[in-house]
Amino acid sequence: MDFIFETAEKIYRTYGFTKIETPVMEYTELFSQSIGNFTDIVQKEMFSFKDRKERNISLRPEGTVGVIRAYVENNLSYNPGIVKLYYCGPMFRAERPQKGRQREFHQFGCEAIGSMNPLLDAEIIEMHVLLLNRLRLKDYYIEINSVGCRTCRKDYNRVLKEFLSRHKEKVCENCQVRAEHNPLRIFDCKNEGCQKAFENAPLLMDYLCKECKEHFEKLQYYLRSKNIEYKINKKLVRGLDYYSKTVFEIKSDLLGAQNALMGGGRYDYLVELLGGQSTPAVGTAPGIERILILMNEKKDDLSIDAHAEKRIYIAYAGNPDEEIKFRIINLLRENDYITLYTYDEKSLKAQLKEADKLNCKFCIIIGEEELKNNQIVIRSLEKGAQENISLDDFCKDSNKFLIK
Ligand code: HAM
Repeated sequence: MDFIFETAEKIYRTYGFTKIETPVMEYTELFSQSIGNFTDIVQKEMFSFKDRKERNISLRPEGTVGVIRAYVENNLSYNPGIVKLYYCGPMFRAERPQKGRQREFHQFGCEAIGSMNPLLDAEIIEMHVLLLNRLRLKDYYIEINSVGCRTCRKDYNRVLKEFLSRHKEKVCENCQVRAEHNPLRIFDCKNEGCQKAFENAPLLMDYLCKECKEHFEKLQYYLRSKNIEYKINKKLVRGLDYYSKTVFEIKSDLLGAQNALMGGGRYDYLVELLGGQSTPAVGTAPGIERILILMNEKKDDLSIDAHAEKRIYIAYAGNPDEEIKFRIINLLRENDYITLYTYDEKSLKAQLKEADKLNCKFCIIIGEEELKNNQIVIRSLEKGAQENISLDDFCKDSNKFLIK
C-alpha cells in the first residue's frame, strides 16, 4: 500500500503539488452542503453521530471537501498562482461491503485550485496515467464527459425532468426521488429497468453552452496531444454533486462491479460554496484498495520488485569485523540503499540464499581473508558474478559499484 502512495507522491511532487493533511472528522453539514443532500453518500453512506456538545459530526467519506474547507479557512489562496495540494488517508462510507467496496478504505488524491484551463484537467489525468504505468498496470481505460455549468444545466434539467415525468412508472423508487431532486444521477442507476427506460433520455452533452463545449473540446485536444487514449461516455455522471464541466473516471474490467479505480473532475463552484472567493478547481482521487486488487490480479509483487535495484545484502565470511560491517551498512543507508543482513550466525551459503530470497540485487561479502588486503567482495545476485574491490574505493563512491 505504501508503495502505491509513494509512487503517486513522487509524481505529484514533480508536478508541483504539496501535501496537506485534513481531519478525519468534519461537521456533517460541510459534507451535506458540498456533496449534495440528495446523493447516496449523504443520504445513506455517512457515519454520522453527535458529539458531547450535540454537534453533528461525520467521518469523512472523501477528501476533496476537507481540502477545500482548509483552503478557504486558512486563506491558502494568498499563495501566488495555482494552489496544488495532495493527500492520502482513510475514508469511510457505510456501504454494503463487497469486492472493491469497503466501509473503511483509503484514497489518495490531488486538488489543483485556481485555474479554469482544461490543460490542468488533462494534466491531472496525465499524472494518473503515469502512475498506472509506473505500477505496470495496463488493463484500464479512461472515460470522460462534461456535466456543464450552472447555465447549461438549468436548461437541461428542465428537459430531463420532462422526459422523466413521462417514464415515471417504469423506473425504480430511487430514480423517482432522483428525478425530483437530482435528475442527472439517474444515469448512475444500476437497475436494468431504469437503464432501459433511460436509453433515449436527453443527454447533457447535447445541451452544453458555448463555453462548456469549448472547454470539453480543448480538454480532448490536450489529451490527444499528450497521447492519452480516452472514450467519451455521455452518461458518465459522478456520485457527488459538486462537479461542473469535466468529469472522468479511470476504470478496469478486471475489478468486477466496482470498476472505478479513480474518479474526478472539475468543481468550479465549491470554493465559493464554502465561503471563499469564486475559484475554479479540479482534482481526482484513486482508491488504494482497488489498485491493490488490480495489482493482485496481475500477480505482480511490486512492493519488493520496485525496490530491487536498491536492495543490498551484507554478508560475512569467517570472523566478521563488526566495525567495518557497520561502517558499510551506515554508508549504504545514508545513500538510500535498503540494507539488510542476518542477525543470526549463518554460513555464507545460507546468507546468500537469504539475500536471494529477499530479492537483493547485490550482496557485499565482508570476508576475513579479503579484509587482510583491505578488500571486500561485491556479488551480483542476478548475474552470479563477483569481484574483489578496494574497501577505500567502495567507501569513496559506493554507487559506482552498485549501479550497473
Ligand atoms: P469517488 O468516485 O467517490 O470520488 O471516489 C474515488 C475512488 O475511491 C473510487 O474510484 C474508488 O476507487 C474509491 N472508493 C470509493 N468508495 C469506495 C469504497 N467504499 N471502497 C473502496 N474504494 C472506494 C471522490 O471521492 C472524489 N473526492 C474524487 C475527486 C477528487 N474529485 C475531485 N477531486
